[in-house]
Amino acid sequence: MPLFDTETPRAALRDQLRAAMLGVLDSGRFILGPNVEAFERELADYCGVRHAIGVANGTDAITIALRALGVGPGDEVIVPSFTFYASAEAIPPTGATPVFCDIDPETFCLTAESVRAVMSSRTKAVIAVHLFGNIAPVREIEALGVPVVEDAAQAAGSRSTQGRAGAIGRIATFSFFPSKNLGCIGDGGAITTGDDELAERARMLRFHGSRDKQSYEAIGYNSRLDELQAAVLRVQLPHLEAWAEGRREAARHYEQAGLGELVALPEPTPGAEPAWHLYVIRSDRVQQVAGALAAAGHGQRAYYRTPVHRQPAMAAYAAGASLPGTDEAARTHLAIPISPVLSAEQAAAVSGCVAEALR
Ligand SMILES: Cc1ncc(COP(=O)(O)O)c(C=O)c1O
Repeated sequence: MPLFDTETPRAALRDQLRAAMLGVLDSGRFILGPNVEAFERELADYCGVRHAIGVANGTDAITIALRALGVGPGDEVIVPSFTFYASAEAIPPTGATPVFCDIDPETFCLTAESVRAVMSSRTKAVIAVHLFGNIAPVREIEALGVPVVEDAAQAAGSRSTQGRAGAIGRIATFSFFPSKNLGCIGDGGAITTGDDELAERARMLRFHGSRDKQSYEAIGYNSRLDELQAAVLRVQLPHLEAWAEGRREAARHYEQAGLGELVALPEPTPGAEPAWHLYVIRSDRVQQVAGALAAAGHGQRAYYRTPVHRQPAMAAYAAGASLPGTDEAARTHLAIPISPVLSAEQAAAVSGCVAEALR
């Protein structure tokens, strides 16, 4: 069983995808055309937010969102260390310094307390990563008086009592990397926000710092979602809700198979209904579990065994960081198969394999 299966759900849409791609080829419009415009409207409506701005990838989306917020040299941006490297990598290009905060290993998300512990007078923004599809406590963090960028790269389709991922903080970012909950056929990303001014600035920054291609008011980026990717995303977006429900159902299959009696299951944050992008368990005997799953031909992978603050390129920003929750999650986590189509039988097979390994 593969670690994730985005192909089976996408296969049913093959003819539609082919037609959409040919439509772009025949139109001769490849950059910032009607598909990008329509996808931006459709994504904003799906999230329940006023604006969506297509960009080239989820990493640029974070850098541009921070720049739109006015983050620059001399500022600090708080980011969890237990995340994909890009969440932190996107900060230094703005001129600001990443400051690492801890996570709750049960939810894999940062907390208001972990943010408060590292806040300073220079804190300009917090990147709240909705890791693995869980929903970080954005509102609690914003109550500390600092704007939040939701890194929703892994959380398309997740929701909570705070709203949908992408519609909770001041501004949010998505990645459409092919394996994501909503994936394109190359690189792609988006920024969402309810703030008209932030949206305008993000649009200006994604196009070389210009609003009209005549006057260049900022050092910006060439970072646009292209028409081909937007056309592909438009075919898939109407199915995201059903795929998200399939992911929630897969998690229920694992619970019903008794996996929670063997290992620690990922804990949704209060009020969250995660569309689990990755299903990540924890165990002190994780190597044994990983070995048994691999031997049985089941997908398994540790994603962040070396957390970001321990990566060589981040050494200058990590001096003195003490992140016990991060270190525990890094040591004990393991992703096991999840997809919108994972069946009860498949969940039982994985669960049985874990039971064997720990017997
Ligand atoms: C949490 C997180 N943030 C940011 C990114 C960066 O997105 P991209 O690969 O589209 O640049 C990713 C995914 O790759 C991610 O998982």
